[in-house]
Amino acid sequence: YGLTGLALRLGARQGDLLARSVVEPARRADPFPTYDEIRARGPLLTGRFVAGTASHAAANEILRSDRFLASPAVAPTKSLNRLLESLTDPHALGPVDPPSLLAISAPEHTRIRKLVAYAFTPRAINALSARVQELADGMLDTIAAGNPSTVDLIDAYASLLPVTVIAEILGVPEELRQPFVKIVNEAALSLEPGLSYRDYRRATEATREGHRFLDEHIARLRRDPGDDLLSRMIAAADGSDRLSDTELRVTALLVLGAGFETTVNLIGNAVALLLAHPDQLDRLKAEPEGWANAVEEVLRYESPVQVTLRVSTADTTVAGLPVREGQAVVVMLGGANRDPAVFPEPNRFDTTRANAREHLAFSAGPHFCLGAQLARLEGATALRTLFERFPDLALDGTPTRRGTRVLRGYRRLPVRVGA
Ligand code: HEM
Repeated sequence: YGLTGLALRLGARQGDLLARSVVEPARRADPFPTYDEIRARGPLLTGRFVAGTASHAAANEILRSDRFLASPAVAPTKSLNRLLESLTDPHALGPVDPPSLLAISAPEHTRIRKLVAYAFTPRAINALSARVQELADGMLDTIAAGNPSTVDLIDAYASLLPVTVIAEILGVPEELRQPFVKIVNEAALSLEPGLSYRDYRRATEATREGHRFLDEHIARLRRDPGDDLLSRMIAAADGSDRLSDTELRVTALLVLGAGFETTVNLIGNAVALLLAHPDQLDRLKAEPEGWANAVEEVLRYESPVQVTLRVSTADTTVAGLPVREGQAVVVMLGGANRDPAVFPEPNRFDTTRANAREHLAFSAGPHFCLGAQLARLEGATALRTLFERFPDLALDGTPTRRGTRVLRGYRRLPVRVGA
């Protein structure tokens, strides 16, 4: 294991709750009771190596504060894995290495984010809605025409829809999409805390492959630009907006990866939750205008991104408690979203919850998810269309979780689609 992995194991053995939440299988599989335990100890729990919060108010304060940066490069727990990797290959860049948007701050962050943001404004997303609907219909046609009555909904729909949408936005041709999904799946592993060196190598190798893939794709678009986001970013990079090749490649990889590694979980988690709450599903079938709020409640109740990390830039306070300079704080978005101070009866899944949208599933502050509107559109369209088309859809076997701590979702979701 890398340094972080060893520290976590040591911390867990000494009873550190934050470390136990990562290391112990039962707490990994169901992190929600641990969030309650952490929150019961106060708005900020300072462990041996990192601090953590599962409080909505404290999480919100940290995410919006300019006294905290999102750069893991300065985290004191920077893993030995990353250190070793940077010695053997100084150019190896994971999804949370600078200059990834997720890991940089103003003014670089503002400059690069601006170049991408125009493609994700509410207006731009509204313009995509007919295409998202068309894609969802086509995928369900394929499922209906297929022979076996049991399908894995993740592969055939929950993952395929967001992959196709984001690939179209970025101009990635169809034949390149499947290999790319595999690459991003493996690369996303590097988000995991305490990864074994073997898995870390797998993730970095996949990331490198992703970069190679994008280099070729960018070279193709330079020769033959289209009307897509990446072609426009290339034009900006080559024009007055100064975007280095590395910035271009890393940003494209982040947008592609973030575009589907998370939305697949939203759709998968939603289907599993609704099948387990048939009364709520029936109401949605009868009143389809409720889907938008149902999506918010799924995001709150089972957040696709459970945790993120910030590091303080100075001695400061959070919720009135002292935090020293350089302290890494794990912000448990999934825990903040079950905070009873904001959400009454937080462990009850309720698609009609009035303030579901106050969740922090898309983070807050300068790194607020760029794709939030797109994810909401895809989620609502995918779910409404699925249950309209297959009202008798039912589980057919046991769903398998991804088993990851940061991203929460299903790897397999076997369903019978019915007539
Ligand atoms: C950032 C969640 C879908 C693109 C983030 C962050 C979260 C998040 C929590 C911020 C992490 C932090 O503060 O440290 C989600 C969820 C999604 C989703 C739950 C689906 C349900 C998408 C989609 C895109 C996307 C469809 C497509 C473009 C991004 C980008 C960032 C980001 C580019 C980085 C923004 C920045 O650092 O300035 N997302 N996301 N996301 N997301 Fe999403």
